[in-house]
Amino acid sequence: MSAEIDWLGQGRVMRITALRDDILRVQVGRDGALPADESWAVPHARRAARAALQASPAGLRTAALRASIDADSGALRIEALDGREVLADAAPPTWDRDGFRLSKCLSKQTHIFGLGDKIGALDRRGRSVVLWNTDAYKFQESTDPLYKAIPFFLGFTQGHAYGLFLDNSHQSRFEFGVLHPDRLSFGANGGSIDYYVLAGPTPKDVISAYHWLTGPAPLPPLWSFGYQQSRYSYMSADAVRTVATTMREQNIPCDVLWFDIDVLDRNRPFTIDPDRFPDFPALTSILRTQGFKPVIITDLHVPRLPDQGYAPYDNGAAGDHFVRDRTGAPYVGDVWPGPCCFPDFTRQATRDWWGTLFRNPIFDQIAGIWNDMNEPSVFWTDSRTMPLDVQHRIDEPGFAPRTASHAEIHNLFGMQNARATYDGLLANRPGRRPFVMSRASFAGGQRTALTWTGDNSATWNHLRQSTPMLLSLGLSGFAFAGCDLGGFAGSPSPDLLTRWLQLGMFNPVSRNHSDKGTRAQEPWVDGEPHTTLRRRAIEERYRLLPYIYSLAEESARLGLPMMRPLFMEFPDATGGVPLDLEADSQFMFGPALLVAPAPYPDTLDDYQVMLPPGDWYDYWTGEALLNLPFAKLAGGSGNETNLRHDPATMPRAITVRPDLARLPVYARGGSIIPRQPLVQHTGQTPQGALELAVYPGPVCRGSLYLDDGESFAYRDGEFLRQEFTCKTRPDGTLALGIGEREGRTKPWWDRFTIIVHGRGPVRRIDIADSAQAQVIIV
Ligand code: NOJ
Repeated sequence: MSAEIDWLGQGRVMRITALRDDILRVQVGRDGALPADESWAVPHARRAARAALQASPAGLRTAALRASIDADSGALRIEALDGREVLADAAPPTWDRDGFRLSKCLSKQTHIFGLGDKIGALDRRGRSVVLWNTDAYKFQESTDPLYKAIPFFLGFTQGHAYGLFLDNSHQSRFEFGVLHPDRLSFGANGGSIDYYVLAGPTPKDVISAYHWLTGPAPLPPLWSFGYQQSRYSYMSADAVRTVATTMREQNIPCDVLWFDIDVLDRNRPFTIDPDRFPDFPALTSILRTQGFKPVIITDLHVPRLPDQGYAPYDNGAAGDHFVRDRTGAPYVGDVWPGPCCFPDFTRQATRDWWGTLFRNPIFDQIAGIWNDMNEPSVFWTDSRTMPLDVQHRIDEPGFAPRTASHAEIHNLFGMQNARATYDGLLANRPGRRPFVMSRASFAGGQRTALTWTGDNSATWNHLRQSTPMLLSLGLSGFAFAGCDLGGFAGSPSPDLLTRWLQLGMFNPVSRNHSDKGTRAQEPWVDGEPHTTLRRRAIEERYRLLPYIYSLAEESARLGLPMMRPLFMEFPDATGGVPLDLEADSQFMFGPALLVAPAPYPDTLDDYQVMLPPGDWYDYWTGEALLNLPFAKLAGGSGNETNLRHDPATMPRAITVRPDLARLPVYARGGSIIPRQPLVQHTGQTPQGALELAVYPGPVCRGSLYLDDGESFAYRDGEFLRQEFTCKTRPDGTLALGIGEREGRTKPWWDRFTIIVHGRGPVRRIDIADSAQAQVIIV
């Protein structure tokens, strides 16, 4: 049985292939030829997968969907087997020189999410966005494009979702109901029409399918979920030592210290400034003994310094590793160190060479690498990057060797830079999970790097924007992402920094970073009450680490983001959530915690938190929130007429008075959240019991995952996984089930403290950990 069908007509050919029951690939070519089967985003093994299907000239059918093709026009319509339309062509593809556009129907009720690190409302409906990796220093709410190009979006319509991924690295543009409210359209300036439709039906199904298609983000080391302190730049070894010592003296838990470019000798990657950092190995060793993991910046540009003993340039030039300009000479552009060459990361040999540069002893005590400026950013040019006719020589398994213009490679460059770093670190230290933070990326870039949202600003609006940006990155494959807490450009007021640190403790990556010339942003700089409030926020993250790390492991395995928009956890809630822009501020941190900062974070007025259907508890007090009024739905989703006040689907509202001392967080009824005693960094073993915070609800569960935090041994059974359940019995008692331990890792605890919330006074029960048990709580 064939797993694909072809349609030919009107000078074009279209091939539809079913990779899985719920994933179709659509390739369209002009002049009777299909595009080459090459991809940087979708690994070959995925493109080669085939689902069983029934095919006819009029279409195909898998176990999950039906695709029909209009015999005359070639219009494609994909529907679920129950007849629900997934996606349908609104017009045939059009070509304009090398570019093309596709147009699909957009129903009035459909909301659009994804496309990477875009700023602005999470719902992209009514917007037009461009994907072109750009160094966007001090970006504002209207700035587009930004640093990453992720041509993937999710459409959500009344509980159902689909996804569309355009596998094309050229500059692309997506429009959602802008000129025609009932149409979305997308296209690129070059390259081929090659896209995937992911049929859902739930948002989680779509995101897992995208994760299956473009590959998993590997589980980052445990320490990367601790608090991280950075600055552009700590200007001397003494400055770094002071930050490290103060962190410990002030008992502010912290795992990571970052070295920005001033650690380098004249901004040259792979060097250290000998005057300001005279004994770098000694400094980094001391940091290690204090429990810090040093991360160092390594930008991709290689300063052109012939015959000056600068090995990265000499060897790069000797090995012909640099991209070429249109004359065939190495392209030279200015960045921090002055005139620079740029490694051609589309070549396997160049990536391998780049990886060897990390064998330099500078990196002996370094725990992670920061790949910045890799859009690539080039100074003093109108385009802020290299010319489009710069040549890359693709030499990559699965690709026909050829020369490609920068127009094709630009959006891939950062991703391939990070990949080269990741592979190099892995080759140099096999068995250790590499940590690479990359600013620019493309779809699939999550396979080798974490990311952050770039050069935001220390303003209330940027604090507000950080949530939809991180949610969007999570929907776009980057489960592990952060923003510069406190804001990069400009100086935050004490209140802003406090609130940002509080919220940032519920981001996947929690790194405080700031620009040159701004005031210091370490947690203690504003004295009391701020130091105490910030310490408390950071401490809470460390107490929650068992939950956070378990969540991270789930994200790496299933592709589900750590930060989730409400519609992902509650797709069937009435009105859909979020209901409007205001609800963008609320999000789920994993399945169990709802984080609800004020929609305008500097507001002093009361505001409404929308609690999705189900039972909720105040996370800080454990109090059950009972008999709350139904929420007033603001509109926007199109189905808010005739609302039934059905408690199973209708959100409730709780009024909150902003309080600098407390970020509103709610625990979902039916959750069991593992917590641990406080540590100052993840290298310390928690002393005492593992806490299980139980928030009873109709179906009640929680899980725990643990491993050594830095090796790959978990892939061979060196981990611990345990599931917990609870159930209210007819006699009113609560039965807590402690599941069997999976994996060979031994727990650091020998007892559990079970804390049961919401059944009158909080109950605390200490029991020995006998691995598997049922505890009846009266
Ligand atoms: C730009 C990055 O976005 C920022 O985080 C960094 O501090 C500077 N480059 C200097 O390296």
